[in-house]
Order: sequence, then C-alpha cells, then structure tokens
Amino acid sequence: MKLKTISNCENDTIEIAQNFAQELSGNEIILLYGELGAGKTLFVKSVAKKLKCHDEITSPTFTLMQTYQGKFNIYHFDLYRIKNILELDNIGFFDYIEKDGIKFIEWPEIIKDTINGLNFIEIYIKKLDNTKREIIIKKGD
Ligand SMILES: Nc1ncnc2c1ncn2[C@@H]1O[C@H](COP(=O)(O)OP(=O)(O)OP(=O)(O)O)[C@@H](O)[C@H]1O
Ligand SMILES: [Mg+2]
Repeated sequence: MKLKTISNCENDTIEIAQNFAQELSGNEIILLYGELGAGKTLFVKSVAKKLKCHDEITSPTFTLMQTYQGKFNIYHFDLYRIKNILELDNIGFFDYIEKDGIKFIEWPEIIKDTINGLNFIEIYIKKLDNTKREIIIKKGD
C-alpha cells in the first residue's frame, strides 16, 4: 500500500503523523527517509505525543536513540552519524530492533540491507519548499 499526501505546513505534518499513529499496533519498524530538516523528527514526536508517550531521559553517551513510553514503547533512532554496521551492533541496535515496541529509524540507508526479511513501513518526506512537504507512506506491498 502506498499513500501520498501533501503537507503545507508543520501542523499538517503533525496531523498526518497523528492519523498514522492511530493505525499502529505497537510493534512496527518504521524507516524515515528525507533530507536534513524534512520533518522526520517532527513526525516521530507527533506520533509519540498522540500515543501519550513521553520522552525518557537519554544517556548522554547514547544520543542516537531516544525512547518514549506510554501506550507503547517507542525507540527512535537517528543513524545520521553512524559509519558502519559494527558501530551499530556495538550499541545494541539489533537487540532493540527485536524488542516489543515501535521502532522509528531516521537515516535508515545503512541498515536497509541487514533488516531485509523483517516487515517494515517506509516513510519518505520530501521538501518541496520551506513549508511544503510531500509525504509518502509505504506499507507491505
Ligand atoms: N510542512 C512541514 N512539515 C514538517 N516540518 C516542517 C514543515 N514546514 C516547516 N517545517 C519545519 O522543518 C523542520 C523539520 O525538522 P526535523 O527536525 O523534524 O527534520 P528532520 O527530517 O528530522 O531532520 P534531520 O535529518 O536533521 O534529523 C522543523 O523546524 C519544522 O518546523
Ligand atoms: Mg531528525
């Protein structure tokens, strides 16, 4: 399934994310693609808010993952600075991926091949101008 929408402002993206949140069962892996400042983090935070999940204190040595707790556990990764799979393995990424909870991954290109075979949702956010975004949500086939 592929759903394409246009967001004209920050609030549109928040609304699209909150609608998306309502369809989640709590165990999804969600890959978020899009350039710097596209709105990936805003999307994740909007989902977390809708599911009444609150930020946990993140360890300063572990800034590439943020966890939220509420209706579900949410693990939110930003792999922008990750150089290789070994580095990821060392911080336990592949253990988290198997945990119960919603796993959001920004900049997922580096792990795309290693999670082949797992079921995941892909979200593509494209900057059309300062405030306009194209958002594509792709699930299954
Ligand atoms: N329609 C829109 N949808 C989403 N964000 C928007 C929109 N219009 C403007 N913005 C702004 O774009 C920025 C998106 O920032 P955000 O941190 O979510 O991006 P990101 O994709 O996570 O970037 P990064 O790759 O650096 O982590 C915010 O400052 C937000 O206010
Ligand atoms: Mg981000």
